[in-house]
Amino acid sequence: SLAQTNTTGVSPVIRKKLMGYVGFANLPNQVHRKSVRKGFQFTAMVVGESGLGKSTLINTLFNTPLYPPKEPLPPSAERPKTVAIESIGADIEENGVRLHLTVVDTPGFGDFVNNDDSWRPIVENIESRFDSYLEQENRVNRQKIVDNRVHACLYFIQPTGHSLKQIDIEFMRRLHTKVNLIPVIAKADTMTDEEIADFKARILADIAHHKIHIFQAPTYENEDEETIAEAEEIAGKIPFAVVGSDNVVQTSDGREVRGRSYPWGVIEVDNEEHCDFVKLRQMLVRTYMEELREYTNDVLYENWRTEKLLSMGVAQDSTVFREINPSAKIQEERVLHEAKLSKMEAEMKMVFQQKVQEKESKLKQSEEELYARHKEMKDALEKQRAELEDKKRRIESGRPLTPERQTQKKRFLR
Ligand code: GTP
Repeated sequence: SLAQTNTTGVSPVIRKKLMGYVGFANLPNQVHRKSVRKGFQFTAMVVGESGLGKSTLINTLFNTPLYPPKEPLPPSAERPKTVAIESIGADIEENGVRLHLTVVDTPGFGDFVNNDDSWRPIVENIESRFDSYLEQENRVNRQKIVDNRVHACLYFIQPTGHSLKQIDIEFMRRLHTKVNLIPVIAKADTMTDEEIADFKARILADIAHHKIHIFQAPTYENEDEETIAEAEEIAGKIPFAVVGSDNVVQTSDGREVRGRSYPWGVIEVDNEEHCDFVKLRQMLVRTYMEELREYTNDVLYENWRTEKLLSMGVAQDSTVFREINPSAKIQEERVLHEAKLSKMEAEMKMVFQQKVQEKESKLKQSEEELYARHKEMKDALEKQRAELEDKKRRIESGRPLTPERQTQKKRFLR
């Protein structure tokens, strides 16, 4: 029997054994096929002072020369005075799965004498991407929504070995509610293992002290031990101490590896003993890319949207979580719904006007056609009349008619 819905609208769960194969076990495959066909969109942002190896790391992560080699700027060159936002897009494919990857770079961050406002253009950029998503969601046709929201932000910390700088703290404090923050220690090959361990501890203490939220791999109930262990291992490496390299180098035992070569040996990018690159890649690409996308949509974007709607005049109490406050949720949905309705109305009006115009011009055309036909017929009749008059005249002016012809003529003229 089917589970009955009770008065609260929540169906009690009744576990049932199936009598035979139904087919919904194929759902994951259906979802899989559909997502593969549609492809994925992922946007990563990189932030950090110039020269910390941001472009090199992105190239290393996606194993593609996404960033072309850079010409060093001559010392006399004009450096920009503000933080710029630049993005590079690439369609990459692996085993038939298409990924539209966008990397948002923020050149200039932290490079000025006064960096107090370095975070501002970045927040604005992230919010304008939310705006564009909201606008698309409110369209009547929501078939082709392009997701340009930033799903992860790699924040590059200079390998100083001290603690976080004011600019790091300020940036993370301003951004942690808007984007999934993933802090990395840049160029970790310039520090010893011990220095890295100390530095990590100090960074984590700063982050905790300032109540900054760092993206954590989620763990769910009923998760298997292996998955939980993997998540814990990844979490244990935050902030990831990374090394990037565009080059393949040879190790002392003759292996060809991606890495950096030093007189004392080779640092291997893909070796977990040498740095946290592998764990970072797991976090960003191999294991948690979908979680990053989901968290961006379900939490970061949702909270921003609620705040935005509040500022648009939806009154309610302080909470920003829609789930916690159902009346706010209803109000918010009403505002969105009304916006959607008025948009629909405007569109319908436009379509209506267009249709009326079409009909009018069609009517006008057929009126002209009718008129032309009428004239044609009138002319034809006129011609016929003239011909008859002519005939009549000819007959009357001819010889006298026989009585038979006279009756014929009378009948004809009647
Ligand atoms: P901007 O474009 O100026 O912001 O620089 P960036 O942060 O993109 O740095 P980029 O990747 O251009 O690297 C700058 C320099 O650092 C290059 O010479 C790289 O070879 C070097 N580099 C990159 N990654 C690492 C690393 O992990 N360790 C070391 N030692 N050097 C690195």
